[in-house]
Amino acid sequence: MDHFLYRNGILHAEDVPVPEITAAVGTPFYCYSAATLTRHYKLFDEALTGMDHLVCFAMKSNSNLAVLRLLGNLGAGIDVVSIGEYLKARAAGIPGDRIVFSGVGKTRAEMKMALEDGIRQFNVESEPEMAALNEVALSVGKIAPITIRLNPDVDAKTHEKIATGKKENKFGIPIARAKEVYAEAALLRGLKIVGIDVHIGSQLTDLEPFEQAYAMVADLARQLRAEGHNIRRLDLGGGLGIPYERSNKAPPLPLEYGEVIRRAIGDLDVEVEIEPGRLISGNAGIMVSEVIYLKSGEERNFLILDSAMNDLIRPAMYGSHHDIVPIVEPAPGTEMTPVDIVGPVCESGDTFARQRPMPPLAPGDLVAFRSAGAYGAVMASEYNSRPLIPEVMVQGDQFAVIRARPTFDEMINRDSIPSWL
Ligand code: LLP
Repeated sequence: MDHFLYRNGILHAEDVPVPEITAAVGTPFYCYSAATLTRHYKLFDEALTGMDHLVCFAMKSNSNLAVLRLLGNLGAGIDVVSIGEYLKARAAGIPGDRIVFSGVGKTRAEMKMALEDGIRQFNVESEPEMAALNEVALSVGKIAPITIRLNPDVDAKTHEKIATGKKENKFGIPIARAKEVYAEAALLRGLKIVGIDVHIGSQLTDLEPFEQAYAMVADLARQLRAEGHNIRRLDLGGGLGIPYERSNKAPPLPLEYGEVIRRAIGDLDVEVEIEPGRLISGNAGIMVSEVIYLKSGEERNFLILDSAMNDLIRPAMYGSHHDIVPIVEPAPGTEMTPVDIVGPVCESGDTFARQRPMPPLAPGDLVAFRSAGAYGAVMASEYNSRPLIPEVMVQGDQFAVIRARPTFDEMINRDSIPSWL
């Protein structure tokens, strides 16, 4: 459930009519609902009630400071994958002891900054990384808390570009080598083992792969403890999917996911961390754009919008579906006709939807892309010299621009021309 609903025939973001925001910021723009973000965070928090836990929002899905501040105020931790993300989380007021650092290619410079400023744990992904972190920790006189990310070789049954838990993927260490690598880690004086980490993929719509992976992690936790390792935390990653198409069967709920965790953990006395991104931010955001032209092709008709693949790349990159709805609710019984919905960027990949049934729309009309709060703004670029689009947050009847649209001058002046030209 989200808070983008029609009221009196007009799409609202919570209590604010979308056209009111459009009048203030122009199109295209992203718009997030504070109530939806809060609700989704709490669903996870409640799903883990009774277990010692920390919900670490995967900020790769949405890294706006206002979103981070809101979640931080609710008690969320943050999962970061670069020092840039780490610094944004800190700038949003998240203390270091609530930040976990994931990613296969952390550099020594990144490790050093995070260690010096304070970090809950590094999720280590390889032996070379482990050796580097040990050296960095010793050089700054700190001890780095670590988990080691396991690759359980489980099929997440999701898009190949976002599956991470198979042995052919670059992530984690093979579960078969876990004991050996933990034994190695235990010898390194700059490191302190605190647990195990796993993340098998994103947009999972079936709980079974989670069940498999978590059972393996719990089993390994017991074995590692028997060998004397201090396994007090399990980071179980993110990945629970969201309903992108209202007409499809909805994926499992956080509560059911929580039950899977509860069953896997059993009587293991551990602290559970999870790293959901998409389920918290995805349906908490829409992207609003304006129709520029309707174009009749020989074989099909095109709806040309003022937003493009540079603003929301998911359809072009993963062939993914976003519901696209008019801001003015169509009257019951309105005839739908199929159109290709495209942006102005100069490549055919700049197509949001093919042969999508839509009500009649005219230039100047507004549409909203649903489920655009995760992996939307964060993956945007200025391709075709189109400035990044603004982000707005709504809470109740108020809204605020939480990232302004850059001016053309700001975009142009980021480049510089050498004196010899
Ligand atoms: N933890 C780790 C270590 C991850 O790599 C990811 C996502 C997450 C947590 C959060 O997963 P989530 O709960 O959001 O599914 N750009 C793609 C998604 C890439 C996901 C990468 N890793 C998309 O637009 O679908």
